[in-house]
Amino acid sequence: MYDQFRVHLRSVMNDGRARPVPKRVDVTMSVLLQCVNLSYSRPHKPLFQHINLSIHDGDRMGLAGHNGSGKSTLLHLLAGIETPDAGEIRTVRQLRVALVEQFVPDTLSPLSLLDAALIGFSEENHWSESYQAEAVLQQLGFTIAQLTTPVHGLSGGEQNLLLIARALLKNPQLLLMDEPGNHLDIQAMSQLQSFLAQTRVPWLMVSHDRVLLNAVCTRTLFLRDEGLYAFDLPYDQAKLEMQHRDETAERTRLNEEREIDRLKASAKRLATWGRVYDNEDLARKAKSMEKRIDKLEADRTFVTRGSGLRLSLASRALAAKQVLYVTRLPVCAVPEQPLYHIDELIIKPSDRVALLGANGVGKSTTLNLLRQHYEQGLPDPQRLRFNPNVTLGFYDQQLEALQVSINRF
Ligand SMILES: Nc1ncnc2c1ncn2[C@@H]1O[C@H](COP(=O)(O)OP(=O)(O)OP(=O)(O)O)[C@@H](O)[C@H]1O
Ligand SMILES: [Mg+2]
Repeated sequence: MYDQFRVHLRSVMNDGRARPVPKRVDVTMSVLLQCVNLSYSRPHKPLFQHINLSIHDGDRMGLAGHNGSGKSTLLHLLAGIETPDAGEIRTVRQLRVALVEQFVPDTLSPLSLLDAALIGFSEENHWSESYQAEAVLQQLGFTIAQLTTPVHGLSGGEQNLLLIARALLKNPQLLLMDEPGNHLDIQAMSQLQSFLAQTRVPWLMVSHDRVLLNAVCTRTLFLRDEGLYAFDLPYDQAKLEMQHRDETAERTRLNEEREIDRLKASAKRLATWGRVYDNEDLARKAKSMEKRIDKLEADRTFVTRGSGLRLSLASRALAAKQVLYVTRLPVCAVPEQPLYHIDELIIKPSDRVALLGANGVGKSTTLNLLRQHYEQGLPDPQRLRFNPNVTLGFYDQQLEALQVSINRF
């Protein structure tokens, strides 16, 4: 199985062309994994309640949902890393499930690339595993020299490729992937896409990338409002179907609210008349109407809560010609060893700049260098100058600037 997979991987990875995604027509395909009535809560936050899901042989499923809705957690449950609060996960006997994690586990950071790929495999078969690991890493674009590089020294995209390699080395029968396309450069992304479209191994992938989801998925799941919504459709069509349902629910809910308001006004009138005219019949009618209102309120159609995310930036453009001026600046990850030079870069207040380049070429290093100059006020006005009125906001790839030990509350 592994060899078959590896040969397949090689052919796919060497050929970046995306092929048409076959439609899932065989409804009799065997079930590999089944979730029955699964519930899971984090402290003070229920993530999902009573969800059901079947994964079949041949499935290519996308899992989408708002940040924090519980997608990674669901994958951890499916992979057996965490256990559900209630419900059951059934699999066919000895199903080999591999998970591509969203983030590099801390335990891997100090290891070399090769050791990190191998950790968790048996010592007995070390040599053959090691040979296979080297082969897969090279097929994913790593050089032999990089095999000894510590994981924390790899670029964001390279770290993701390592996580993909680790999963492939398990020779899985079911592949679970948590945002595998994160940080991948355009070529690696296209190779990932081809691989996903061609592999015979069924997979379930979390992604926020609409293009990727549309290109390779035949089924789409949405995790939201503590429930799982499944569609036998690619992402865009599934999203449209979900929107139709949401719009219908909103209209129904609006009509229900209007009816409730109307009945409340009638019940109030009847109760007042009952009191004023001392009429028991009217008072009884008011009471029965209130009961009906209670029932209508309890049965109101559910309307999605949405993500709750609101982003805004209160900032004024700087009244200046230049925000940043750079010329003939060497960009180094290691002192005295430039990855490349910035010949000239001028950023004006109205600019929105995209920095593109292959994985490992030095994009993050460039931004870190600019931040370093800004924060330390390095005196290099000939080569790098920030406008003195600039305030720098910095979002780094690994969120290293976040002090995770500090509690917000
Ligand atoms: N170990 C933990 N302890 C407490 N809360 C956690 C833990 N791990 C995750 N959470 C919380 O559980 C919720 C779901 O997290 P999860 O990582 O599954 O979300 P997600 O859907 O994968 O989000 P994203 O799209 O941002 O990756 C979040 O609110 C998160 O903060
Ligand atoms: Mg996640």
